[in-house]
Amino acid sequence: MIGRVNHIAIAVPDLQAAARRYRYMLGASVSAPQDLINHGVRVVFVELENTKIELLEPLGDASPIAVFLERNPDGSMHHICYEVADIDAAVRRLTEDGARVLGDGKPKTGAHGLPVVFLHPKDFDGTLIELEEVKPDFAPA
Ligand code: CO
Repeated sequence: MIGRVNHIAIAVPDLQAAARRYRYMLGASVSAPQDLINHGVRVVFVELENTKIELLEPLGDASPIAVFLERNPDGSMHHICYEVADIDAAVRRLTEDGARVLGDGKPKTGAHGLPVVFLHPKDFDGTLIELEEVKPDFAPA
């Protein structure tokens, strides 16, 4: 059911500093910052040949990332995002199998303007999983 790794996300205490490190020390191409109000995060994407790294910092007082950073003040890996072709079918199958979808269980619009859901880390070996619906036609070359 899951396809490619779309991105791996790292929560960071200082997005600007992290973006600079990736751009200048690691020599990677880094996108402009993007505010995802619905998710309570500001993100940049590090574009790699085979995948992307999402660097994220809290946005607003109620950001779910703020608590995560309290526990991991230096930053830490936050989630891994897999592509699926049909997110509604994926959610149906996962909930039938007893997996928990976070929030109201309905897909929200993610950083790439595509539907995403997050799965409970306790159901997946302590890893927060994001699923993003990427139609094969729209997959980047
Ligand atoms: Co993500």
